[in-house]
Parts: sequence; C-alpha cells; structure tokens
Amino acid sequence: MPRVIAPSMLSADFGHLERDCRMVNRSVAGWFHLDIMDGMFVPNISFGFPVCKAIAQVAEKPLDAHLMIVEPWRYIERFAALGVKYLSVHYEACSDRHLKECIKLIHDCGMGAGIAINPETPAEVLIPYLRQIEYVVVMGVHPGYSGQKYIPETTEKVAVLAEMIAGAEVDCFIQVDGGVSTANIAELERLGAGVFVAGSATFSSDDPLSAIKALKTV
Ligand code: DX5
Ligand code: ZN
Repeated sequence: MPRVIAPSMLSADFGHLERDCRMVNRSVAGWFHLDIMDGMFVPNISFGFPVCKAIAQVAEKPLDAHLMIVEPWRYIERFAALGVKYLSVHYEACSDRHLKECIKLIHDCGMGAGIAINPETPAEVLIPYLRQIEYVVVMGVHPGYSGQKYIPETTEKVAVLAEMIAGAEVDCFIQVDGGVSTANIAELERLGAGVFVAGSATFSSDDPLSAIKALKTV
C-alpha cells in the first residue's frame, strides 16, 4: 500500500482545532487519527464524542479511532455514527470473546477493524485474529501520551508481524503508532508497515504541512 500518514489530533491546538483539521485536509496526510483515552486503560484522559464530532464535521479524509479504553465494545456504534472509518481496540483491554465481539461489531457497523498491541505484548498474540481484521496497530510508545521517545524494539516487532502476515497469506496492514518520525518511518515501511501515526512529528513543527510532506516522502 502507498504510505499513509495519519496525524494524531491529540497533538493539535484545541484552541484552533478547525484550523488544524483544515491543515490536515490540505496536506498529503491520508487519515485523521483520534486517540481516545479513558483514564482507566491508560492513566491519561484525552477527548470524547463532542471533540470527535467537531473534527468529523471538518475532516475530508477517513477518521481512524484508536480506543485506549476499557470495555471498548460499549462505544463502537457511537464512533461509527460519527463517520469513523477505521477503529482499533486494544488486545490488552479485551478477553478473546470480547475481541471477537468487537471485531464483529466493528464490521457490522461498516468500519475496518484493528487490534492494537502495547510495547510489552508479543506480536504472536495476534495470530488467531489476523484473518478477521483489516489492520494491526503496533505501539511504538506506551499508550497514554504523545511526544514520547520511540521504543527501538518496535522495529523488530514490525518485521515479525510482516512475516506473520505474509506467512498467513492475509490482507492485513500494519499501523505504527507512537514515536514515528522522519528518522524511523522509511525503515518501518521497508519492513512492512503501511500506516504511520504522527502526533508530535506533525504538530510540534512550525510548518506542519511541510512536516507531513517530509514524513510522506522521506
Ligand atoms: C499514544 C497515542 C499516539 C500518540 C502519537 O498513546 O496512541 O497516537 O499520541 O503521538 P506521537 O507521534 O507524538 O508519539
Ligand atoms: Zn493512537
């Protein structure tokens, strides 16, 4: 797949949210990434439905919601109703039964389903689900905060997952989320990742349009 950059709106300026959404519309980014944190699954709380709705009203590109919450199945339909196209839940937040229920619900709502794994979770746990999902999310940082340092072991995990996906002959793409920058994105793509979430690499720049372009082309 062509490289997709998904700016994380958690790093946007919430006082100028519409401006930042329009910047993403104008940019070479492919998706909007929405980080949903509940203060339970992760220590931090981010934003909820009113902010997602405000973004959805301006966004002209697919919305990708990353649920870092407990009991994610309770909210899947509400994200679909907002127009979200891709939705990921965390492996660590669900039992096997719940994961299967989430995947079914995400699909019944017409969205692409992803499973995210924390840095300490091995890639192999995803094997039973690869045939049922559209994408996996490999966390490059511990979920909860933007602007953290990339965990170098993530790179090897992407390579292992890419081999697992090729070996299983399934159509599943790899998203890397956390710590993505121009320093690691080309290597991660070479190893098999296709979608790259970029919070601080986008919004801590004085020129986010150029920052996104650099991520897309480096
Ligand atoms: C981490 C979030 C990420 C994060 C990305 O909990 O899921 O999407 O905000 O931010 P950067 O790119 O700054 O690591
Ligand atoms: Zn995220």
